[in-house]
Formats: sequence, C-alpha cells, structure tokens
Amino acid sequence: MTRVPTGIPGLDEMIEGGFIEDDVILVTGCPGAGKSTFGIQYLYKGAVDYNDPGLYVTLEESPARIMRNMWRHGWDLERLTKEDKIRIIRANPIVYSRYIKESQDNIGTASAEIATIEHLLKEIYRNVKETGAKRLFIDSITSLKISSDPVNVRHVILEFIKNIENMDCTTLITSEISDNCGEFNVEEYLCEGVIRLHMFRVGGNRVRALEILKMRGVKHKESIHPYTITDGGIVVYPSESVIGHENDAMDFTTL
Ligand SMILES: Nc1ncnc2c1ncn2[C@@H]1O[C@H](COP(=O)(O)OP(=O)(O)O)[C@@H](O)[C@H]1O
Ligand SMILES: [Mg+2]
Repeated sequence: MTRVPTGIPGLDEMIEGGFIEDDVILVTGCPGAGKSTFGIQYLYKGAVDYNDPGLYVTLEESPARIMRNMWRHGWDLERLTKEDKIRIIRANPIVYSRYIKESQDNIGTASAEIATIEHLLKEIYRNVKETGAKRLFIDSITSLKISSDPVNVRHVILEFIKNIENMDCTTLITSEISDNCGEFNVEEYLCEGVIRLHMFRVGGNRVRALEILKMRGVKHKESIHPYTITDGGIVVYPSESVIGHENDAMDFTTL
C-alpha cells in the first residue's frame, strides 16, 4: 500500500509512515485545537516537499485570511496558489442554506439538501480534475450540518463522504467537537481514520495532545502524545507522554 507522508513531524511514525493513499481521514477537535493548521500543513508540505498538488475547500475562513494567518508559520500559500500547486476554493454555507430555503417549497427538505451537496461535490470534483490534486482538505464538515433535522444531517454527511471517497485523493476532513464525552458524530464512523486533537487544562496551563482514535488497516499507536503549534507549524512528540500530568491537574478535562 502506498503511504502519503503527513508533513506533520512525529505523526508518520505513529501510523507506519503516513496515511494510506486515497483514504479519507477525519481530524476532530474543539475550536483553536489546530485543525485548520493541521490540514494546511498537510497540503503545504505535500506541495513543497513531495510535489503533490493540493485542493483546499474552505467552508469557514476566507482564502485571504487563511493566506495571511499561514504567513505566521512561514508558509507562502500565495505563491503556491499562483503556481496552482495549491488551489483554495471557498464554499459559503450561507449560500447553500439560501438555496435550500428556496428549494424547500418545491422539492422538500431532504432532496433539496442532497441537491446542494451534489452541487458542492461537482465543484470539488471539477477542481480536483483541473489541478490534478493528490491531496484534498475539507474544512469543516460541521458547516454542512445546517439542517435542524438530525436524519437529514446524517444523510447529507453520509452522501458527502461516500462521494469524497471516490475522488482519488488522500483527503483530510475537519470536524468540530465541543467536548470529549459527547456522542460520536456520524463522520467518525464513516472515515477510514480519526485523529483527535485534545486540549487539556493542567493547572494554569494548556496541554495539547494528539490521539489516533482509529486508522483502518494500520497498526497505529494507541497512546496519546503531546503536540505543539509553533512558528513552523504543528509538531507531535510520539516519545513523550501526557500521562503523569493528571497529578498536577486541577481540572483534567478536554476544554
Ligand atoms: N505561531 C504560533 N505559535 C503558537 N501557536 C499558534 C501560532 N499560530 C497559531 N497558533 C495557535 O493555533 C490556533 C489556531 O489554530 P487553528 O488551526 O485555526 O484551529 P482550529 O481550526 O482547530 O480552530 C490559535 O488559536 C493559536 O492557539
Ligand atoms: Mg479551523
């Protein structure tokens, strides 16, 4: 099986050398965990170190803001987008919700949402083919959960991931979680792998820790390891442990 290096120092050795080519991997965590940075680093290092074209589908931040923030890590996304090595497309969930509202009168909620997702998938597919993208990053799937009906939400997410699996890209998808104890989201069952970015409060400090919840077909590390966000991006420390910190913790919970 071909492995795709993640571009995150320390992570490849936790998963036998990288993601399995063409898999869809979910990165979950609360706001500020570093999910967007993780995915952009995967695309950036892929383009610069491995010459892999990448496509970034942002449902949240604007491309201009993303490029500005990533300067902080020394990543010149603007140059890469000009060379079309990385393409950033923005899908605005508000436009989609308007589309759903207009369509609801005619074809009902469920089919209107599927139509919306189909439109988005077609755009993604067209851009993957145009750029020859090997790496795809979708940020975040939570933005697609605009229906108030949980059955519709599951349907939309299922349809979305099923189609993304057929794009011949090694794909990262982000998903927001609010805490560590709640129900698992449908996307966590569907994706081949799930990486969780935890943030613990230890005394007056924050400890960041990465866990591979699952990675099908991979003998991955099952222990939780610290990571930091630095000027150079995300770094994982697979030989360091967060165990032991519980004794110092005033409140050892995921923020
Ligand atoms: N140069 C840096 N050094 C240390 N931490 C940084 C740096 N740049 C960003 N961060 C951290 O990264 C966080 C943003 O990460 P982001 O990828 O946007 O998170 P998410 O997508 O999970 O909400 C910031 O809140 C900040 O804590
Ligand atoms: Mg983000």
